[in-house]
Amino acid sequence: AIGPVSDLVISNKVISPDGFERSAVLAGGTFPGPVIKGRRGDRFKLNVIDSLTDNTMLRSTSIHWHGIFQDKTNFADGTSFVTQCPIAANDSFLYDFRVSNQAGTYWYHSHLSTQYCDGLRGAFVVYDPLDPYQFLYDVDDESTIITLADWYHAPAPSANGGLPLASQATLINGKGRYPNGPAVPLSVINVKQHKRYRFRIIAMSCDPSFNFVIDNHTLTVIEADGEYTTPLEVDSLQIYAGQRYSVVMKANQPVGNYWIRANPDLRGLPGFDGGRNSAILRYAGAPVADPTTNYTSTNPLKEVNLHALFNPWVPGRHEVGGADVNINIAHTFNFNTFHYEMNGKPFIPPTVPVLLQILSGTQSAQDLLPAGSVYSLPPNKVIELSLPGTGVELGGPHPFHLHGHSFWVVRSGDSPTYNYKNPVRRDTVNTGLADGNATIRFVTDNAGPWFLHCHIDWHLELGLAVVFAEDIPRTSQMDPPPSWDQLCPKYNSLKPDQL
Ligand code: C2O
Repeated sequence: AIGPVSDLVISNKVISPDGFERSAVLAGGTFPGPVIKGRRGDRFKLNVIDSLTDNTMLRSTSIHWHGIFQDKTNFADGTSFVTQCPIAANDSFLYDFRVSNQAGTYWYHSHLSTQYCDGLRGAFVVYDPLDPYQFLYDVDDESTIITLADWYHAPAPSANGGLPLASQATLINGKGRYPNGPAVPLSVINVKQHKRYRFRIIAMSCDPSFNFVIDNHTLTVIEADGEYTTPLEVDSLQIYAGQRYSVVMKANQPVGNYWIRANPDLRGLPGFDGGRNSAILRYAGAPVADPTTNYTSTNPLKEVNLHALFNPWVPGRHEVGGADVNINIAHTFNFNTFHYEMNGKPFIPPTVPVLLQILSGTQSAQDLLPAGSVYSLPPNKVIELSLPGTGVELGGPHPFHLHGHSFWVVRSGDSPTYNYKNPVRRDTVNTGLADGNATIRFVTDNAGPWFLHCHIDWHLELGLAVVFAEDIPRTSQMDPPPSWDQLCPKYNSLKPDQL
C-alpha cells in the first residue's frame, strides 16, 4: 500500500494473472495497482509518472480518483479532455487534493480512452476515525479489500467504433482462471473464527456486473460508494462497474474453506466451472484445500430493490417537488455512426479540455465543446436528473457515474418506485432496462466541469457521456488551478490565446 504522499509510476509489463501472458498497463507494476490509503481530512499529493513504453494511446495516461469529490480541485479529477490533457510519455503530473469531508471505499483508474481495461486500476481507501459503525467489526485492513475485475487477453480497443470485447476471466484480488486455462492459484482471504470483518468490495470492471456471495455467510451492508447506509443484512449482492460496498461478515461458521463467488452477468463468462469467478475464504486452522461448499442466495441485494438501502441520517434536499432544475437525458445508439448519443449527441473528446476552455473565458454551454454534450448548471441548486433505461440490445442496463458528487438515488433504474424520504446516496447507479428510469438528485456545490458517463468503458468510448459544467463562469469558487503548462504541457499548439 502507499500513503497520501506518493509517486505512482505507470508502466507496461507482461503479466499473467490468470495464467495467460499479455502486456498490461500497470500502476506501481502490479495488478491491481497498490492500495492507496489515507484518512478523512488528509491532503493527497499523488505524483503520477508516465513511464509507458508500449506504442498504444500515444504512451499517454491520466488517473481519476473515482468517488473523491475534488472539492475546489476539479483540476485534479484526472479526466482526459475534461479536466486535463493526457500526461505524455516521460512526463509526470501532481494530483494535489484534500479529502476533507469524505471517508469510505473508492478506487482509481486511468481515464484515458479504454486504458484501464488494460490494467490501470487499484483500490483507494479513506479510513474514518469517526466511523459510526466501528463497533460492528473487528478487522478492516488491507486483507479485507476485495477487488473484482474483468480481464481480457487482447488489448482494449481504443479507436471509436471498436467493438466491445468479451472478458476471459474474472480476477478477484488480481487472480482468476479462464476456460480451459491452467488451474492457477486463486486468491485466499484468511479469517479467524468468531471475528467480524469489514470487507470492502470494489467492482473495478470495464463491463460486467457481478453477483457477489460468500458461501454460507451473511453480509451486512454498511456503505455504498463512500456513503454510509442503514445496516442491511443480505446474503449476496449485485455490484455494477464502478460501484463499491462495505459489508460486515461474522466468521461464525465451522472452521473450513468457503467459496467467494463473483459471477459476472452475461457480458462476462458466468458460472463456476473449475474455480472460475471465485476466490477462497479460509478460516485459521482449515486445511489448505479448495472449498467444497455450495450455496444458493435467498436474500440478495439487487438494483431492483436498492430502496432496501437507506440513507441513515444525512438530512437531504430530496423531498418530493424539492428540485430546482429538472433534466432528462435519454440515450440511444446510432447504428450509422456506431456511437451512443445522449439527447442526440455523442461525446467526442474535444482537443482542448473543457476546464481549459472555461478558464480561457468560454462562458456558456453553447460555446463549449464538444457541442451539445456540455450542460451548464447554476450554482447551489438541487438538480434532479432522470436517465431512462434502454434494452439489452443497446447494451443496457448502463451503470452511470457522476464525477465530483454523491447523489441521492430517488429511483434506481430497475425499481418501479420512488423514495423521496431517505434515499441511499452513492456515485454510480444503473439506468435499468427499457421501463427503467434512474432518477438522482444532487446539489451543485462544486465548481468545475464534471463527467457523467456509463462506466461500461466500451460505451464511454462510444460516446455515452455528457459533461456538467457547474458554476460557469464563477470558477473562482475553485482553488487556483495549475497553469496550462502543467495541465497540457505537450499541447502548446492547442493553447487558446486567452491563457
Ligand atoms: Cu470511475 Cu469517469 O470514472
